[in-house]
Amino acid sequence: MLIFFSNKPHHAIVNDSVETSKIFKKDALVNAVLRKVLRDKDNIKFGKFIYPKFKKVLDKIFSSKSIREYIYQTLFEKPINYQVSLVDKQKAIYEKRVFLLKKKLKSNCFVQDIGNFEIIKSTKSFYHDKDILDICAAPGGKSILLHSYGFKVSAIDKSQIQINKFYENIRRLNLKINIKKIDFLKEKFLDKYNSILLDAPCSALGTFKRNPDVTTKVDQTQIKKHQKTQIEILEKSLKILKKNGFLIYVVCSFHPFETIDVIDKISQKHNNIKIHNINSEKMIKRKNGYFINPLKFKNIGGSDVFFVSVLEKK
Ligand SMILES: C[S@@+](CC[C@H](N)C(=O)[O-])C[C@H]1O[C@@H](n2cnc3c(N)ncnc32)[C@H](O)[C@@H]1O
Repeated sequence: MLIFFSNKPHHAIVNDSVETSKIFKKDALVNAVLRKVLRDKDNIKFGKFIYPKFKKVLDKIFSSKSIREYIYQTLFEKPINYQVSLVDKQKAIYEKRVFLLKKKLKSNCFVQDIGNFEIIKSTKSFYHDKDILDICAAPGGKSILLHSYGFKVSAIDKSQIQINKFYENIRRLNLKINIKKIDFLKEKFLDKYNSILLDAPCSALGTFKRNPDVTTKVDQTQIKKHQKTQIEILEKSLKILKKNGFLIYVVCSFHPFETIDVIDKISQKHNNIKIHNINSEKMIKRKNGYFINPLKFKNIGGSDVFFVSVLEKK
């Protein structure tokens, strides 16, 4: 199905699949099947099947029938991509910053989902210190947006591959952002911070429109592993957060283990953490935080689903 819904050209998907299947010595078979599928593409009828484990989690979080049905529908549509401008522009489709990304990136723009944009836009006013530590920063979407709002971002990430993409982005946009390759869990920090963004590694379930394969991979054991890492990183982040400082926790997932439960476990352990309300009509309030509501973006193409929680250390 991916072959019909991805933005990649068909020949590139066939090539990638054939290359990968060489590992299993099935390249000739995969090549033959995919080429036949492409030849017959006009006669293929799609059944609408949603993986039950994925649907179960989705239904748990989105109690509104209209939201659920909109999300089911978007699973079978070609995704809309967005780009965000560094400066306000009158012709933007959302909040003077967001444009559709059809083929080419505009100058002064970078790729970012509209839900991601909404998260940063509606939480930036919590940071009362413009010096911000972005802990899982690469490839830099959120750092770049914060920089464009006047923040001085110290960005860290442990992945050189992701950091290289970050450098490519800031080079193209002609920005200066301090980026360091650091494994946050291994590094010793001497400084403390008033403002921290933690965009934690996760299952990426909320990116189902652009990555339909995540819907097939709802695996409790794997998601528990993500939760363990998320809690470890969050615990350590709270240690280097100053008193009265703000930490914003984000994941591009809606699985309760990675969202509501992570914040539950943290607030049960620390009695000095206050969870703040966010003022955005594009989000749904749940225990411990907010989920982006894709239905609110229906008229401009929908959005990924993110979870965000604003924590203050008392
Ligand atoms: C969701 S992505 C971040 C996306 C990024 N914030 C953006 O807006 O473009 C999560 C990132 O966390 C990084 N990461 C995972 N574990 C880490 C650790 N222990 N220390 C630093 N970075 C880590 C990964 O390399 C990955 O780039």
